[in-house]
Amino acid sequence: MSELSVEHLLGIKYLSTSDINLIFETADNFKQVINRPIKKVPSLRDITIANLFFENSTRTKLSFELAEKRLSADVVNFSSSSSSVTKGETLVDTVNNILAMKVDMVVMRHPFPGAGVFLSKNVDSKIINAGDGAHEHPTQALLDSYSIRERMGDVARKKVVIVGDILHSRVALSNIFCLQKLGAEVCVCGPKTMIPKHIESLGVKIELDLQKALNWCDVANMLRIQRERLEINYFPSTREYSMLYGLNNEVLDSLDKEIVIMHPGPINRGVEITSEVADSDHAIILDQVENGVAVRMAVLYLLAQKIRH
Ligand code: CP
Repeated sequence: MSELSVEHLLGIKYLSTSDINLIFETADNFKQVINRPIKKVPSLRDITIANLFFENSTRTKLSFELAEKRLSADVVNFSSSSSSVTKGETLVDTVNNILAMKVDMVVMRHPFPGAGVFLSKNVDSKIINAGDGAHEHPTQALLDSYSIRERMGDVARKKVVIVGDILHSRVALSNIFCLQKLGAEVCVCGPKTMIPKHIESLGVKIELDLQKALNWCDVANMLRIQRERLEINYFPSTREYSMLYGLNNEVLDSLDKEIVIMHPGPINRGVEITSEVADSDHAIILDQVENGVAVRMAVLYLLAQKIRH
């Protein structure tokens, strides 16, 4: 297969396993490109991309912008705080005005779940979801699975535990879909209050005890508490959360094996993970960030092929 089965990247749930493998094989080539002295190819020289960020971001925003520039696309950036959205303009009007300036593709982060799907049905452009509320963050899941494949050779049959605030995490949901499509076993671990009631229906294992979850897994993906999405307290104190669900050297040393440690960022050092673990050789956190550029180049390149056809 040399073409994606989808017209937009709205969520991992819409991708086939073949789509994910095609993205990874394409990313392998782009990873070589970004590690050359000249990190640029002319692949998207005729394409203009708008990055619309209605919510804060460091990694995803910069990673998409770098991916676009490495592919020689023309890039415009939009942040909602300095735009006419603050004057009451609708999302569809805002995007249609941007598209009238001959923009071909839109990368969007938005606080509302489903914003990308809504946009894809109401404007004439390729849409890439860069995170929609607590729903999906497809490129994060792709780069996470790509990084597991790079470190461990394959994703199939690996046991991956996602630890923390599963309830508010778009990273968790997209990772569950992506890992399962690639044949991994997935467990979620965290305070009971932060495990969604119906998550078992997705075929994941639930484990409330971090030590047991770590003894089971090959890979632990540590999530931050999404404080910006908490309306109430889900655990008594940050200190107690850290005692029960924080990853430190003492916990890792008590395991009878070595596991791979991941984190999507931003990290709250000393809460879900200590600095000594985050900066250790077991952690592939900065590999994830590097791979994010290659994976996003692959997604942009493959969707742009569909504009040209
Ligand atoms: N992982 C992630 O989405 O980070 P940002 O919020 O900084 O983009």
